[in-house]
Parts: sequence; structure tokens; C-alpha cells
Amino acid sequence: MQIITTAREMQQVCRALKMSRTLGFVPTMGALHDGHLSLVERALAECDAVAASIFVNPTQFAPGEDYEIYPRSFEDDCAKLEAAGTTLLFAPSAEEMYPAGATTFVEVAGLGDRLDGASRPGHFRGVATVVAKLFHIVGPERAYFGQKDAAQVAVLRAMIRDLNFPVQLVACPIVRERDGLAMSSRNRNLSASDRGRALILHRALHAASKLLERGETRAEALRRAMLEVFASDAEVRVDYAAIVDPSTLLPIADTSEGALIAVAAWVGSTRLIDNIVIESLREDKLVLESHFMEETHV
Ligand code: PAF
Repeated sequence: MQIITTAREMQQVCRALKMSRTLGFVPTMGALHDGHLSLVERALAECDAVAASIFVNPTQFAPGEDYEIYPRSFEDDCAKLEAAGTTLLFAPSAEEMYPAGATTFVEVAGLGDRLDGASRPGHFRGVATVVAKLFHIVGPERAYFGQKDAAQVAVLRAMIRDLNFPVQLVACPIVRERDGLAMSSRNRNLSASDRGRALILHRALHAASKLLERGETRAEALRRAMLEVFASDAEVRVDYAAIVDPSTLLPIADTSEGALIAVAAWVGSTRLIDNIVIESLREDKLVLESHFMEETHV
């Protein structure tokens, strides 16, 4: 695996590589877990070569958020990426990505202010900006993102469409721990007791999916069931429990035509997110996020 730290060299190496091979791209902020590695695996299955990036992007953190304490484990991440078969790793410094005087940002209006964008003002402006820059540097045919960040996926799909990026965004299923907790780099910041408490997000989604299985489609009923679960632990602070259209992220009243059921909560000082996607009930199809019911034990 070749490690590159400057945008100019990365651009040149990627351009040369793409003369003869298709290139998949897995952007990350490091602290890699099996969810990230599943993106690399999928990219390798679909492309001739895979570039990954590790960059803890300061512009997607608001002042007072967890930028300083975001987990960092560069050596360990490199070993994992190498073992997974990654071809190139782009690992720039903050100065390389945002040279003094850089003032251009990408804003996905509307979408960027919903769900996480509502509680983390400016977050998706930072995400869209850094991903647009990474796309220009790497120039991949396909880019792989985790479905756990469902709002991020919606925002980036809109950016790709609006700015005519010749990139196909591939959203990959959430990877969970054995007990159901969605894998996240931020899980490393949970204390032992908060690690147990964090399962509440999964339990809330499970409550909603149980109701769906019984034929309940009204968003308000599903939302109430999730909030009841959250109310069982006074030390967890809910940010949102939302039932929205997966593309527009706007609230919907009924899930029969498909829905994104998304939750965010503060567990101790760590903010966690999770979701399930419901496909349309038309043709009698109720599809929960893959393996959500089968592989987890609540
Ligand atoms: O999902 C992430 O890890 C980040 O938001 C991303 C896409 C790498 C941009 O910094």
C-alpha cells in the first residue's frame, strides 16, 4: 500500500492508475473498524484498485464538539488497510487540505440542515466540502460510504447530482457488534458503563421494527415507541428519533411508501447515531436494514 500525504502527488498517482484500472474510493476519518473494512472489501470486489483516505476533517466539527478527542490510531489503521488489500492511502495534514486563505465551501442547502445537520450546524457543509475536494483529488469511479451515516449519504448524493461529479456513490450496510450496537469510531470513547447504555439506540430501532412487523405504519406510533425506550434511561439524552423520506430527509406521516427511521442520542459525552431503512410496502415488501432482525440479539 502506497501512503501519500500531498494532494498533488495523490492526484498524479490516481490519474496514472486510472489509465488502465478502475478506482474505488473509501474516505474515512480513521479509527477504523470492521464497518470501514467492509467498504474496502466491497470496493475491491467492484473495482480494480482501491484508494482510502484518513483525514479527521476539522471543518465538519463545530467549536466545542469532539474534534480534539476524536479517536486516532494511524499505525493500526494502516496495518488494517494494508491487510484488507488497499492500493493507495491518502493521509493529508489539515494544512494540506485547507491551506491558509482557503475560503471556498460546498453547501447542500436544505438537506444539509436536516437530522444531524439540524443539531450540528455547519456539519454537512464541512462534510460536503472535504468530500468534494477528495473527489477532485482521487477522481474515483465509485465511492463507498456506510449507511449508518444515512443523512450524510443523502447529502452527498445530492452534491454529486448537483455538481455533476462523475462518481457513483455506493451506500453499504451497517455493520454491528454481536449485541447489535452499530460500529462507530466513536464507540472507542464510551466508558464501560456507557458502552452498555449505548445499546439503547438499537433497542429503540428494534421497538419500531417490532411494530412495523405487526403492521403498524404510522410514523407517530413508531416514534412514540422509540421515545418510550429512550425514556427508560434518564442518563441518555435523545437528539432525534425521526421517520423521514430517505432522500429528502423530510418527516413523513406513514412508512408504507418506504422510510428512513433514524435515531441520535448522547450517551455520556458521546453522540451516537443509528438507523434502519424501510422499503416500500407496495408488493407486500417490508425490508428492514439487512440482517437487522436476524443477526442481532436485543
Ligand atoms: O463518514 C466519515 O467518516 C466522514 O464524514 C467523511 C465522509 C470521511 C468526511 O470527512
